[in-house]
This record gives sequence, C-alpha cells and structure tokens, in this order.
Amino acid sequence: MSMLYHIVTYGCQMNVHESEKISFILENMGYQFTPNREDADVIVFNTCAIREGAEERVFGNVGALKKLKKSRPELVIAVCGCMTQKEETAKLFKQKFPFVDVILGTFNLHKIGEYIAKAKNQKVFELWSEGELDEEQGYNRSSGKNAWVNIMQGCNNFCTYCIVPYVRGREHSRSVENILSEVKQIAASGQYDKITLLGQNVNSYGKDLSPSVSFAELLRLVTAANGDFKVGFMTSHPKDLTDELIEEIATNDKVLKEIHLPAQSGNNRILKLMNRKYTREHYLSIIEKIKSRIPNVKITSDFIVGFPTETEEEFEDTMSLVEKVKFDGIFAFMYSPREGTVAAKMEGQIPLEVKKQRVNKLLALEKKIQKEAKKCQKK
Ligand code: 5AD
Ligand code: SF4
Repeated sequence: MSMLYHIVTYGCQMNVHESEKISFILENMGYQFTPNREDADVIVFNTCAIREGAEERVFGNVGALKKLKKSRPELVIAVCGCMTQKEETAKLFKQKFPFVDVILGTFNLHKIGEYIAKAKNQKVFELWSEGELDEEQGYNRSSGKNAWVNIMQGCNNFCTYCIVPYVRGREHSRSVENILSEVKQIAASGQYDKITLLGQNVNSYGKDLSPSVSFAELLRLVTAANGDFKVGFMTSHPKDLTDELIEEIATNDKVLKEIHLPAQSGNNRILKLMNRKYTREHYLSIIEKIKSRIPNVKITSDFIVGFPTETEEEFEDTMSLVEKVKFDGIFAFMYSPREGTVAAKMEGQIPLEVKKQRVNKLLALEKKIQKEAKKCQKK
C-alpha cells in the first residue's frame, strides 16, 4: 500500500500555492494525498504569521496531534511556513511540541522532501535566514481552473504592522524567462482558464532585474502566450500603481478587470504611522483614475482597525473612505501586534474591546453597501 500525506494550509494564496509545491515534492517521493489526517503517514502544517489568531489556530491544531503521534510513532509531522521562519516561534514549537519531527521555514521549503525522509531516523530543525528562488520543483496544481504563478518573493515596504518582510525577506523577482516558460506550459495544458500572478507587491515586479521590467510589461508578455486564458494578479500596493499599469489593465482583453488594492486606513496620520507612503487623497485619486479608465472594474481592499493610537475620529475616516469608494468587497482586520515589527512597540495600543467594536462597525457598513449593490443589480 502506498504511503499517504496530508497538508493543512493557513493564510494567503502564496501559502496555498506553496502547498501545491509541497504536494508535488511528496508525490514525487511516492506519497499519495489523503483528506483524512488520521490516515496519513506524513502531516504537513504550512503556517501563517500575519495575525495572532492564525498562530493560535496552528498551535491548537498541532497540539491536538499529540495523541495520534503517540498511537502511531512512525507518523511524521512537519511544520513549515511564515510562523516557523521566526526563530523564537520555531524554538517554541520544538519546546511545546517535542513530538513534531520536522521544523523548517520559508526559505528552505524546497528541502522539505529531504527533511521528511531524514526524519525517519532523527528530528530535523533547520531554518535559513535567506534563500534563492527555487526554480527546480514543479507544482501539483489543485485550485481547479485557476493556476497560480508566483512572480516574486518578499517585500521591501516594511509597513510598520507587518511581519511579512521579516519572514519572507526582501523583494526578489523571478526572471521573465522562467515566468513565461511556466505560463506557456500552463496555457498549453489547456486545463486552466485563469492564471493568477502572485506576489506581496506585484506592482514593484522587475525593479530588481537588470534590465528592469515593469509589471505592465510582464502582463503584456504573459498575455501574449497562446491559449484561451485570463490573467489576474495580487496584491497591489497603491504607491506603485502606475498609469502604465492602469492602461494595460484597461486595454488588454486577457487581463481580468479586478484589482485588490489594500488601503489599510482612511486617515492620513494613521497611514503615515503605518508607513504606507500614500495619503487618503492620493488613494482616492487612484481609485478615480481606475474607475474612469476601466468600466465595470471590481476593486477590493483590506483594512486594519485599531492600529496603535487610532482615535474614534480617525477610525471614522476609514468608515467614510469605505462608504465613498463602495468597494466590491473588503477584508477588515483588528490590528494584531507582531513581535519584531515597529508598531508592536508603539505606545497607545488599543484595547481589544474597542478593536472589536470598530471591526464590527466596519463590517456592518460593508454588508450594507453590498446589499445596496445587489439591489441596484436587480433593478
Ligand atoms: N494585524 C492585522 N492585520 C494585518 N495585516 C497585515 N498585518 C497585520 C497585523 N499585524 C492585514 C493587512 C494586509 C492583510 C493581508 O493582512 O490588511 O493587507
Ligand atoms: Fe506587509 Fe506592507 Fe509588504 Fe503588504 S506591502 S506584505 S502589508 S509590509
């Protein structure tokens, strides 16, 4: 009988896509997927560190495997991803859950097969502080008709609340050549009707390449591949959203008219404290431009409420921005202090109760806007 594996994925699309790589590696080693973790010979947790809630869920779910591991000592449990890329958290895992066999981070993810094979004889605890972009391994694509294509790693922005630059490193763009060869393969397979280009900040794609290549150029090249597919992308940073890119989205039939453009706050003082590098006015002017140039465009956004020192009035600026733009969807998060980031050390942390009130208020507004939008569609 063949050996079975199970993967539990937390967090963003980048992680979902990286789990497709883990799956590819394990299947090449002869493992087969099982939807039941109780039956698995290998269980992988691909973790997320973006908010405390995500981390707590991981701790809870890994902890719950203690019994299973006791009854089946040959079971291999591996934990990887953004949470274990933080050395202190990785050490905490080792200490709290000595039954975990393999701990690795984000930079050495491509080594997971090797580590799992080793784990039959010894525990593996291996973190790297940086890593090359891995072009060797393929993906076991599992997102239906959509194929994810990673175009870059890391982030240079250091928004003061965000852990990503610490666990994913600086921006590294994949070469146009490698991206195009992957896209052509996907298109030629005829199995996908959508390709989604992934990066923490896709608008700054190619700035680190020589010669540099803009994201708009990359879109042109990717959509030029033969095949019947549309191209989406995420995530965009407002500070880097150029007119060239808006033009490309507007005029290129193969590019989906959907932009996820996190605003995070509608208040200028808070935006500055967040180190977002744009103002409310600038954000609104980009939205104007997008809407006037791309009819029927779908714009979505992320917001953080209860950032340190945020007053009720400043929160109301976020409410009014959401009311004004009437996004096609928003994600609203309570600010969660991440150790090691600038904002976690700021004075004036907001009590949980206040954050809850604000997030509920923002979500209620969002619900109202969506309801009205549906009514208008019906008319
Ligand atoms: N607390 C709450 N939300 C956060 N995000 C990033 N870091 C934090 C944090 N420390 C949100 C941002 C980002 C989304 C992916 O997660 O809104 O756009
Ligand atoms: Fe985090 Fe800001 Fe980079 Fe997005 S742009 S990953 S929020 S630091």
